[in-house]
Amino acid sequence: MQLLVNIDHVATLRNARGEGYPDPAEAAIVCENAGAAGIVFHLRGDRRHIRDKDVYQLKKAVKGILDFEMAATGEMLDICLEIKPDICTLVPEGREELTTEGGLNMESVYDDFENQVIPVLKEAGIEISLFLDPVSRDIELAAKIGADTIELHTGPFANATDSRKLNYEIERLKESAVQIHELGMKVNAGHGLNLDNLGILIENVPYLEDISIGHALVSKSLFWGLERTVKEYLKIMHI
Ligand code: PXP
Repeated sequence: MQLLVNIDHVATLRNARGEGYPDPAEAAIVCENAGAAGIVFHLRGDRRHIRDKDVYQLKKAVKGILDFEMAATGEMLDICLEIKPDICTLVPEGREELTTEGGLNMESVYDDFENQVIPVLKEAGIEISLFLDPVSRDIELAAKIGADTIELHTGPFANATDSRKLNYEIERLKESAVQIHELGMKVNAGHGLNLDNLGILIENVPYLEDISIGHALVSKSLFWGLERTVKEYLKIMHI
């Protein structure tokens, strides 16, 4: 298991004043030096946080795993093929959403992914990760289309407000992780994870490999600094 830090919200803070700081690439270096295995960034169509220039700087700065999270648009595919990250995580993207709100609906993207998206990423040798809700049919279709990895959407688990809901979400994630593993794909997880819920996820869900954490980690770093915050997450992960 390893930690990938999503540095989108370093760019959010930078963009609030239009200055050159804080710099996402500098944050990436600090995270990696503190022990993170790699960095995730989401270049959104509206460029609300990470911008094109950041992508090129991150490509240069990141020594470990670089995970390019994106919607499967022609524009993003072109940038991704130029950058050649280690992992491309495909997500749905809604213009009005504050953050990614759900996993991909595999039925609706299947034909486009099969014909336009998966073949070019495979050809480029980039690991293909699909961000999915813990839904068996979506996972089956992801395997059929040739995904290497599924990133399980942990948002509903993170937002569970009582123990009945929490247990229900844990069960779904557990069953999905087993299914993904049995289908020969890698199990990643992310969204809404923090210092309080990460331990519960890890104790209960098997086969987890890359854990992607952004908002809570970057927020805590305002008080603790990025290095200490990354190390606290790594402790929970027994790294
Ligand atoms: N994984 C995916 C696919 C995401 O869209 C996000 C949010 O950008 C994350 C992980 C990280 O979520 P959070 O910022 O809530 O830690």
